[in-house]
Amino acid sequence: MAGQQVIMSVRAATDMLVLAMAVALMLMCSSTAVEATLEYDFYSSSCPQVENLVYQEISKAYWNDSTVAPGILRISFHDCFNQGCDASVLVKGNTTERAAVQNSQLHGFEAINAAKWAVEQSCPGVVSCADILQYAARDTVKLTKGLGWSVPAGRRDGLVSLASDPPLNLPPSTFTAEELIANFAAKGLSAEQMVILSGSHTIGVTHCLQLQDRIFGTIDPTMPKDLLAELQATCPTNLTTTPLVIDRHTVDQFDTQYFSNIASGYGLMTSDQTLYADPATRPFVEANLQQGVFDSNFAAAMVSMSWISVKTGSEGEIRHHCEYFNGN
Ligand code: HEM
Ligand SMILES: *[C@@H]1O[C@H](CO)[C@@H](O)[C@H](O)[C@H]1NC(C)=O
Ligand SMILES: *[C@@H]1O[C@H](CO)[C@@H](O)[C@H](O)[C@H]1NC(C)=O
Ligand SMILES: *[C@@H]1O[C@H](CO)[C@@H](O)[C@H](O)[C@H]1NC(C)=O
Repeated sequence: MAGQQVIMSVRAATDMLVLAMAVALMLMCSSTAVEATLEYDFYSSSCPQVENLVYQEISKAYWNDSTVAPGILRISFHDCFNQGCDASVLVKGNTTERAAVQNSQLHGFEAINAAKWAVEQSCPGVVSCADILQYAARDTVKLTKGLGWSVPAGRRDGLVSLASDPPLNLPPSTFTAEELIANFAAKGLSAEQMVILSGSHTIGVTHCLQLQDRIFGTIDPTMPKDLLAELQATCPTNLTTTPLVIDRHTVDQFDTQYFSNIASGYGLMTSDQTLYADPATRPFVEANLQQGVFDSNFAAAMVSMSWISVKTGSEGEIRHHCEYFNGN
């Protein structure tokens, strides 16, 4: 009798557990139904070749002009930090994000347009510019010998792009680690992810103006003398338009040299060097000196960034041309 009662209560407990799990599952499903979701196989039936088409166009553009790689990677960051990852940065106009001074140096738009055009030939009206931009950003890292990653998709293109957004959302090159941490936290990204994503500066360029607080007027006493002399020679004024490669050793490779540079004091912008100078972020710099660690951290951080305030379902639209809202 006692044995049977134990069995009964075990069965009752199991039933309760199953019921509780079912309820939990239902709650989870109903809450994800109202939240945005992205899927790795979002275009598997509607446009199965989309990622090949994008890769083809981005590689073509890259082999013609390798600066499109840093150009596009930076566009993806500026997109996600303003109105979410919704291609709002791509829209042309005097009053759109592109008109903001923070975006004045962005380039690589033609390659995105070419990718969109190729995709439209195969699957008209199906693939968003927001997703194409994320695929393209991943492709630029692969093309510069970094590691690729799977891009969750299903983003819709935004209907809003304001020149007033970038100054509110994008961090300037004069920010300290503390300010950068707060800026990324506002987008749901951690201090560690901020440092990892800054590793993007292993490719591409900056300009003299961005070093205004280090080499003009008040000189940053922590900058190595040889670097200071070299930069002052290249940048006679803060408005000199000469591009300065951020990673002076391997500007075309998605390697860990950016982190080595700042670990030895040779970062260019305040926002770079501060990551090593500040004990709060230095451990993240040190951890990413290893290529394998950086590769997988960077992939994961890019996927996290690509989720920022995405629009899905029936929100927004699928633009016909990435640089214009539909109906314009
Ligand atoms: C942590 C905060 C960041 C700051 C303060 C910052 C700031 C800057 C600045 C001032 C430039 C130079 C622009 C110019 O003069 O042309 C630059 C270039 C660049 N940034 Fe960042 N950035 C940050 C994070 C990121 C992130 C998260 C990414 C991408 C995931 C990124 C990707 C790039 C790339 C690829 C370039 C080179 C662009 C080119 O060659 O045209 N940056 N960044
Ligand atoms: C090749 O690159 C140049 C600039 O470097 C650009 O003007 C031109 O449009 C590019 N051509 C193609 C086919 O992408
Ligand atoms: C945008 O600016 C250009 C050049 O300043 C001007 O010619 C044009 O009329 C402006 N367009 C709009 C829609 O304001
Ligand atoms: C650039 O230099 C000029 C002249 O030295 C100065 O007046 C100006 O404030 C500087 N601009 C920036 C953005 O630092």
